[in-house]
Order: sequence, then structure tokens, then C-alpha cells
Amino acid sequence: MKRDANTQKWLEETWEKVRIKMTAECGRLGETIPFAPKNGRYFDVENTPLGLGFWTNGFWPGMLWQMAHATGDERFKTAARGVERRLDAVLTSLDGVDHDAGFLFLLSAVADWRLTGNGESRRRGLHAANLLAGRYNPAGRFIRAWDDRKGENPQWLNADGSVCGWMIVDCMMNLPLLYWASEETGDPRYRHAARNHARTAQQRIVRPDGSCNHLVSLDPETGELLDAPGGQGYGPGSSWSRGQAWAVYGFALSYRHTGDREFLDTAKRCAHYCISCLAVNDWLPLVDYRSPKEPVKYDSDAGLITACGLLEIAEHVENLEKDLYTDAALRILRACAERFCDWDPDTDGIVGGGTTYYHDPGGRMSELPIIYGDYYLIEALLRLRGDAAFLW
Ligand code: GLY
Repeated sequence: MKRDANTQKWLEETWEKVRIKMTAECGRLGETIPFAPKNGRYFDVENTPLGLGFWTNGFWPGMLWQMAHATGDERFKTAARGVERRLDAVLTSLDGVDHDAGFLFLLSAVADWRLTGNGESRRRGLHAANLLAGRYNPAGRFIRAWDDRKGENPQWLNADGSVCGWMIVDCMMNLPLLYWASEETGDPRYRHAARNHARTAQQRIVRPDGSCNHLVSLDPETGELLDAPGGQGYGPGSSWSRGQAWAVYGFALSYRHTGDREFLDTAKRCAHYCISCLAVNDWLPLVDYRSPKEPVKYDSDAGLITACGLLEIAEHVENLEKDLYTDAALRILRACAERFCDWDPDTDGIVGGGTTYYHDPGGRMSELPIIYGDYYLIEALLRLRGDAAFLW
């Protein structure tokens, strides 16, 4: 990929800052499982309300595997293996893992298998794929999001107390675990579940203009659409930017794994919508692209995930189309890095400006460094340098 000298210089300088900071963090953290730093330091999530099965726990090993692949430094691999072993506890607990098995195990065990051929890691990945496939609802043709086994979330039940069939756009990123399991075993069942879920998401979650719902409630007996609440975004009909990002990247990945052209077209439609929203806002992602002008609140992570999705799309389109996606990805990356990155190797967390959900009254989970932002920053940089490990 040819690019101008200024961009290339920026990429190399930014990568060097990442390398220095990641080496320092790896030395401090090892197999600690981080989420967001407190007073500049990560803490382990195991004995917190998040717990070992939290959806973000694959991102630190994912960052370590990307670094191990790009640098050959064994210290990254040792730390990634340590986290992978710790996540075994999740595989053997009924409440351990939900629809986010892909986020957890693609970036830990499956990454290990792909990069080193470690057979134990392959078994972990297939075990996780079985747990994810077990959530597939064949009548509604979707993978059920979340759980309510303990009755802790009565607001997630239907008025008559029955279980809702929640389906969320985030889950598009978990499907590659199922595609991988079919590629690995030759058994098409995993792929059938993933492809059907993606088709249902096209119909129920993506709107004709490329914007998305975060979540929909489907009748678990028929798949009929019951409700489309606002979820982590501003409200019903709005456009939660991280959900938009999951759609861009997730549909592009479903195209990669199935070759179904309609998934690439959906990814492009969602991408064009995101690009237009970002282009009028200095390439900085608001938490919701369809919310009131005030308060101004960002989610840098939505931008970085979108950038990776755009780079994935660029791999699959014709030559004359590629620059649109690559240039937009670079603009987002530079805007987010310049505005939100902390390059001090002595503090934990690289990208600030991450926001978990729009409605956050105390602001505790708004505009802070969150581990997945750092993962997608590293993946985007490495994709642009041509030495990313493919982990999806
Ligand atoms: N569960 C994925 C997200 O919050 O984006």
C-alpha cells in the first residue's frame, strides 16, 4: 500500500510509542486481567463485580499476542499464556460466559492456536465455540444475548415473566468464533448458526440507511420483532456509535468467512453511514451519532473499532474503492490518537475518551481509558504497517 511520507512517519513514530508503552505495561501487569485504570494503574478484575467472564477480558491477551507477533518478544507471549490459563475457570462455569465467548476466546486461546499451533489452546477454543453455539435459537434464527438465570434482571423479562429473546449488534463480533470452529473441524453446524444470526441481524438490527439498533427483543418461539429499545445508546431510533462500529467490522468479517456478498454490502452501507457522521465531526466519534448536540460526549473506542472494520472492508473491495476505506480509517486513527492518547510508559492505559454507554448519570464510565480501545488502536496500526496478526 503506497502512502505519503508524512503518514508513514506518523505511523512509525506512533508504533514506536506503542511498543515502548506496551513493554512497560507488560512488565508491570503480566497475567493481570485489566479493564480500566484507577489513578493511572490497572487492577485485576477477577475479584470485582466484573469477574473473570467479563466480555473485555480477552483484549489484554489479544494486545499481547499482537505485540508478540509484531516484535517476536517472548515476554508478551508468556503473559498472554498466563491469562489464557486463568480464563479456563470461565469455560467450566454455567454462569461463566455468555454471547461474548468470541471476544474472550478468539483473542486468547484461538490466537494462541493460530500463532503457535498449541493444541491445548485449540481445545479451549472449540469448547468456547460449543458454549456459544448452545445459545443459538433455531426457531428465531439468532444467538441469544445475556442471561437471566438468577432472576437478577427482571427488566429484561417480558411482561408475563417469560424470557425475552434479546439480540444485540455487538454479537456480530462473536460470530468469527463459530466460523473458525467450522473451518477447524469441518462441521458446518457452527457456520450455519453464525450465518443465520448475521442474516437475522441484517433484517432486524440494521436500518435501511446503514444506522443500527443496539438491541432488539425477538419472540423466542418465532423470531418476530417485539421491541427495539435504545440499549447503550441515547434512545429508541438513535445510533450508538460503538454498535455502529460492531456492525461495520462484524458484517465485514461475516463476508470474509462466508463469501456471502450481501454481508459485504451491509458492512459497506454501515461504513458509509459512519464515515459521514465522523467526517462532519473532525473524525472524532460521539457516543451516539443521533443524539442531542449537548452534552458533547465521545467514545474513542467506537472510532478505533470502526477504523479496523474499514481496513477489513478495504481488503475485500476492488482497487478503485480501497482508498475510501483506508483514508477514512487513517483519519479516525490520527484524530483519536492526537486527542486521546497518553504515551507515558509509567501510567497504564493508552487511549482515553472511552465511554461505555450514553446514559451514565455519575459519569463514572465516561471518557476514560478502557482496555479494548488500546486493542483496536494496536490492531489498526499494525494493519496499516502490514504486520497485524489476524485474530478474528
Ligand atoms: N458488549 C460490547 C459493548 O459494550 O460494546
